[in-house]
Amino acid sequence: MFLNKIQRFERIEPLKLFEQKIKHQAPNTKQQTTNHKQQNLPTILAIESSCDETSAAVCRDGVILSNLIATQKVHEQYGGVVPELASRAHMQNIVPVVDVAIKNAGISLSDISAIAFTQSPGLIGSLLVGGQFAKSMALALNVPLISVHHMQAHVLANLIDEPRPDFPFLCLTVSGGHTQIVLCESPLKMKVIGETIDDAAGEAFDKTAKMLGLPYPGGPLVDKYAKLGDASRFKFPEPQIQGLDFSFSGLKTAILYFLNNAGTSNVFKEDFAVSAEERQLFIDNNLNDICASVQNRIVSILLNKLLKASKETGIKNICIAGGVSANSGLRNSFIEMGDKFKWNTFIPKFEYCTDNAAMIAITAYYKFLAGEFAGLSVTPSARAEWS
Ligand code: KG4
Ligand code: ZN
Repeated sequence: MFLNKIQRFERIEPLKLFEQKIKHQAPNTKQQTTNHKQQNLPTILAIESSCDETSAAVCRDGVILSNLIATQKVHEQYGGVVPELASRAHMQNIVPVVDVAIKNAGISLSDISAIAFTQSPGLIGSLLVGGQFAKSMALALNVPLISVHHMQAHVLANLIDEPRPDFPFLCLTVSGGHTQIVLCESPLKMKVIGETIDDAAGEAFDKTAKMLGLPYPGGPLVDKYAKLGDASRFKFPEPQIQGLDFSFSGLKTAILYFLNNAGTSNVFKEDFAVSAEERQLFIDNNLNDICASVQNRIVSILLNKLLKASKETGIKNICIAGGVSANSGLRNSFIEMGDKFKWNTFIPKFEYCTDNAAMIAITAYYKFLAGEFAGLSVTPSARAEWS
């Protein structure tokens, strides 16, 4: 009975693997593989499974040799990530993803010096799949285990390629679950000096997209339509939050009322409420301008706080990171602000902005050098402070 069930267990969806073109191509001759082993260069296999991407990467002596990502399309129909489906998809994807990452790096199992994995924060079921796989592999290969904090890894994505920021630097880390300004003194010494008190920037994008009837994840679609729109057409409020913290929930409510009033007001006034048909017509006729105006406000909220952080700390080496740093409006405005205030600005390559194992590998590399290993008793955690 049980066996039958297993035999009938089908893939949730066909596995689609994405691999970036790696600048430092992996050596694929046996000779080179032997050489690096003789030189004893740390070679780390890293696994990222905190949300809905199953990713594996290989890094040798701080150089990324492969970075494979399997995205999970199964969530699209639900308008958001379904945790149980994410865990199941990770279980199905993890073996082929790791296998291809190792092959594409041109290494063999015996070359691996350590196994790294995302320990927190994230969806607990998803983290458990990556964590258990990493532990089993470390045990089987008799190599150390390295646990990595996902948000720390987003920051260190800025150290993957040249040009790399000098320390200390500030990093605006903007993802689906977090919005933080991080002061980074060394690869393993960082402090969060500002963060959101409610929604994250990625959530603001995704929730806006949902209100506009766009599919999940909506951030990239808002970005796409915003490129065609007039950002000054509609005005959305900027929250007045003390210090370096952020808030996006007021903006979300303003957008909801704005749409329900077909653009006549950002505040709730029953007199202005329009029918569902009128609301849809308003969206259809103004989609590009709405996306551009909302994006413009999200970007200005983020960058105004980053400017404040730079003024308060005197730090001018400034990075952005996380899924929302893939946003073209944020990238452009960040560069413009950097030129204006004479910052040294850094943005990870597009594929290192959204969730990926290369950033886990680079963080693990610095932990390896510092001798920061985890015991096999380490457990994933949905929420966690900086490690
Ligand atoms: O860092 P990430 O890949 O995963 C988390 O750790 O959360 O970030 C995902 C978030 C989602 O909210 C997604 O909509 C947003 O990043 N995102 C974007 C863009 N690309 C991804 N938001 C705006 N514009 C984009 N181009
Ligand atoms: Zn992330």
